[in-house]
Amino acid sequence: MAKACHQCEKKCGKHAGGVSPDVLKKLEEGFAKLQGSDAKSLLKKYLTRSIFDRLKNKRTTFGSTLLDCIQSGVENLDSGIGIYAPDAEAYDVFAELFDPVIEDYHIGFTKTSKHPQSDWGNVNSLVNVDPTGDFVVSTRVRCGRSLQGYPFNPCLTEDQYKEMEKSVSSALTGLKGQFEGKFYPLTGMNKQDQQQLIDDHFLFKEGDRFLQAANACRFWPTGRGIFHNSSKTFLVWCNEEDHLRIISMQMGGDLGEVYRRLVEGVSEIEKSLKFSRSDRLGYLTFCPTNLGTTIRASVHIKVPKLAKNYAGLEEVAGKYNLQVRGTHGEHSAAEDGVYDISNKRRMGLTEYEAVKEMQDGILEIIKVESSM
Ligand code: ADP
Ligand code: ARG
Repeated sequence: MAKACHQCEKKCGKHAGGVSPDVLKKLEEGFAKLQGSDAKSLLKKYLTRSIFDRLKNKRTTFGSTLLDCIQSGVENLDSGIGIYAPDAEAYDVFAELFDPVIEDYHIGFTKTSKHPQSDWGNVNSLVNVDPTGDFVVSTRVRCGRSLQGYPFNPCLTEDQYKEMEKSVSSALTGLKGQFEGKFYPLTGMNKQDQQQLIDDHFLFKEGDRFLQAANACRFWPTGRGIFHNSSKTFLVWCNEEDHLRIISMQMGGDLGEVYRRLVEGVSEIEKSLKFSRSDRLGYLTFCPTNLGTTIRASVHIKVPKLAKNYAGLEEVAGKYNLQVRGTHGEHSAAEDGVYDISNKRRMGLTEYEAVKEMQDGILEIIKVESSM
C-alpha cells in the first residue's frame, strides 16, 4: 500500500513513500549487471549486497531513489566513479554509498570529517609555475556552484531551467571591469560557433553519456549557456553538470593571476546569487567528486619525457595527489603530447590549499621532467 507522498502529500502512486516494483526490478538488474562486470568504478567497489539491500527502498523528499544515484555507473561500466546525487538530500539518505566513495576519491575525507570554512588564502602568494614557458601551455581554475532553492539536474523542471538561466544571465551581465561580458544561450547558438568554443576549451561538450544516463540532460539545450568576458579569461557555464561552473583561464603558467581573477569573480557573483552549502560537505554539487571547495586547478602541460610511459606519468602525478586527463578534459585522449593535470581532491582542505596542492605538484613534475 502506497504511503502518503512527501511531494504531493497524498497517495499519488508516482511519488509514493515506497519504491515502485518497476524501480526495484531495475535496481536488481543493475546490481546484477555491475556484479557480473569487471567495472573498476567506485560504485562497484562500494555497493555491497548489504548496503544495496538497506538503500533500495529509500527515497528522498524529491522522490529520488538509489536508481537515480547509480544508473549512470550501471549504464557506463567504464565509469571511474559511477554515482551522482539527484538532489542534495541524496547525500544523506544514501550516505552508506556516498560516504565511502567520497572518502576514497577525496583521499581520507571520512564520514565523520567536516569540510573547512571557505578560505581563498593569500591570493598574492601563488606563482607562475613555468616562467620560461617551456612546459605549460595554459592554466585554468574552476569551481562549481548550485543555486539555493533548486535541486540538481534530474529533478529540475523545464520552467526552472528557464528561470535559472534568466537569473544567472542577468547577474552576470551586470559584471563590470575585467569581468564585463555577455551571456550566450545554447538555444539558438549556431553549431559552428558552439564547436569552436568547445575546440578552444571554453565550452562544455555536448552529449556526455555519463550525464545523459544520470538524467542530467533533460530539456537540453533549454537553460544551458555560457557567459564570458571579451578576452575569454573569465567564463561561467550555466546548467551543464552543475548550475554554475565559474572558470578563470589564460595561456601560459601564471597560476597566481588566474587564481586572483577567479577569487575576485566569484565574490562579485556572490553579491547577486545565493549558493547552496552544507556544513559538513561544503559547496553542494551534483557529483560527489566536486563537493567541498569544488576547485579543479589545472595546467595543460607538455612533459614528453615523462609521458613516454603514461603509467609512470600517472604514478608521479598520484604522488602529489594530482590527476591526469586528456587535452579535451575528462574522458578524452592527449593530443600533441598535451596533458591536463589538476588537483584530484576537493574536500577536507581549503580553496587555497587545493590550488597550492596543484602548484606544488606541477613544480615537482617540471623538476622531474627537466632532470630526465
Ligand atoms: P571540468 O574542468 O569542468 O571538470 P573537463 O575536464 O571536461 O571539465 O574540462 C573542461 C574543458 O576545460 C575542456 O575543454 C578542457 O580541455 C578545458 N581545460 C581544462 N584545463 C585546461 C587548461 N589548463 N587550459 C586550457 N583548457 C583547459
Ligand atoms: N560519472 C563519471 C565517471 O564516473 C564522471 C565522474 C567525475 N566527473 C564529473 N564530471 N563529475 O567516470
